[in-house]
Amino acid sequence: MCGIVGYIGEADATPILMEGLRSLEYRGYDSAGVAVFNNGAAAVVRRKGKLSALQEALDAGSPRGRVGIGHTRWATHGKPSEANAHPHSDCTGRVAVVHNGIIENFHELREQLTAEGHTFTSETDTETIAHLVEKHFTGDLLEAVAAALGEVEGSFATVVLSEDQPDRMIAARKDSPLIIGLGRGENLVASDIPAVLKHTRDILVMENGEIAEITKDGVALRTIDGVPVDRDVLKVTWDASAAEKAGYEDFMLKEIYEQPDAIRETLRGRIGADGAVELDELALATEQVRALNRVYIVACGTSYHAGLVGKQVIEAWARLPVDLDVASEFRYRNPIIDEETLVVAITQSGETADTLAGVREAQHLGGKVMAITNVVGSSVTREADGVIYTHAGPEIGVAATKTFVAQIAAVYILALYLAEERGFMDAADARAVKAQLMELPAIVEEVLNLDEQVKEVAANYVDEKDSLFLGRGMGMPIAFEGALKLKEISYIHAEGYAAGEMKHGPIALIDDGTPIVVVATKSHVYDKVISNIQEVIARDGDVVAVATEGDADIARHARFVFYVPETSELLSAIPAVVPLQLFAYHLAKMRGCNVDQPRNLAKSVTVE
Ligand code: M6R
Repeated sequence: MCGIVGYIGEADATPILMEGLRSLEYRGYDSAGVAVFNNGAAAVVRRKGKLSALQEALDAGSPRGRVGIGHTRWATHGKPSEANAHPHSDCTGRVAVVHNGIIENFHELREQLTAEGHTFTSETDTETIAHLVEKHFTGDLLEAVAAALGEVEGSFATVVLSEDQPDRMIAARKDSPLIIGLGRGENLVASDIPAVLKHTRDILVMENGEIAEITKDGVALRTIDGVPVDRDVLKVTWDASAAEKAGYEDFMLKEIYEQPDAIRETLRGRIGADGAVELDELALATEQVRALNRVYIVACGTSYHAGLVGKQVIEAWARLPVDLDVASEFRYRNPIIDEETLVVAITQSGETADTLAGVREAQHLGGKVMAITNVVGSSVTREADGVIYTHAGPEIGVAATKTFVAQIAAVYILALYLAEERGFMDAADARAVKAQLMELPAIVEEVLNLDEQVKEVAANYVDEKDSLFLGRGMGMPIAFEGALKLKEISYIHAEGYAAGEMKHGPIALIDDGTPIVVVATKSHVYDKVISNIQEVIARDGDVVAVATEGDADIARHARFVFYVPETSELLSAIPAVVPLQLFAYHLAKMRGCNVDQPRNLAKSVTVE
């Protein structure tokens, strides 16, 4: 959580820091600040609230200088306030620090530093870094920061400046992401690649336990313990404009419309000329795949819902039992994992703290870990034994949309691969599934034509407080996802439920006019879903259905129907979710909500 950016070069630092922070605002937005150094003296401007509040303050008087750091915050220690906004300083005001992560021993450190005479001005854990740097500074900022971080337990991505050595930035990371952008006569550091793309496409991805001394002319990378590090430069090939809104009102809407491409790109190259699924990334020999006795999927939020889809397809096609856990439970469960278990960690950002902890736990227990992620160079890609990239392009909207369908496309490929390697799918079935998979992008393009209809239907529910989302089989994870999308961006309470479970409790919530969204696409449990719809109608619920084109009958049961093209049952998850994303989007917009930056949320949850 939190976005960090730093600049050192020949240009005016403040606008560059603000531009970088804008592309990082998805990481948190409860306060923001910059520290800019001019002739060796630091000017710090901080504001509570979004970046726009900081920009207003800067418009009234912007510090000028050629080196600076900036931060957009998602509070962990200390409420959102100007005093708790970064950058933080030491007692002398000569040191400026931005930080992302959690310093777990900050209470002890704060007590100890206070006893030594340091005075704290914020409630944050971050401020301890500034005081530790002050304490350890004997003329070399790099050594002071390394010594300071040697005392810190927990996670950090941090950038430190000091008036005593204003010609350098010191950046370090442990369990929170940090990249360095290599420019000409200028260098940048940031939490994520889009923040530096307007300046450079040459990136150094910092690894855990590393520290960098960055000047305008170069970068020296080493471990915090002092071992020099030689890192290959990563060339970013995607376009900076991919991270802009491209004419759409919001990133979320743009990303919903990018879904056909996200699926296409994720499937691209996965099915070879001979028709075989290519998944060298799995890094398992055929004998190892055959020896697998179980798959365990670990994920959070929307990625967990992709995991629920994965469970159904892997069990159906590869006949392997699949367990599934939210990562925050898995990591503390002492799960049953052995060498014959394939653990699949699904994480869009590749930085979710609980999922990463799950990966480590699974490896510790002997499991082989495959990550499904969208972010090249993210932490999970370095920790997992193999990676399947989703190639959805950068997703800026906090609510996951295109990365969800891309994750599902990736689990389809994984399931097919496991099925073929284990000999559980005959050639004709496999061919048919692959052909249907390749049709998914075009099908989603068709579903996007429902946009206007979905908007009109959504207008009927703007003032609702509660809603239920129901589904069975493949419809169940899609109902869960539809409910998550609605609640996170519109703040309408939404329960996602297995339709058959409704009568065991949630049915009590239904009264006159409660909106009940039902995923009722054609499936082997279609009749059961219709029975559930009847139960809803009998209690005056107001049914909105997602159904398969040609199903005229459903219109007799539901007030509104969103028709999606027919696919095979197991592939229906992707077309079915799109109207629900649009439904949440339009309702949220009509309620005046900020769909890209919903309250209290952040794009990457890098704290536990
Ligand atoms: O980056 P990850 O996929 O690991 O993130 C997991 C969740 O935090 C994420 O899916 C979250 O639930 C989104 N806000 C959903 O839209």
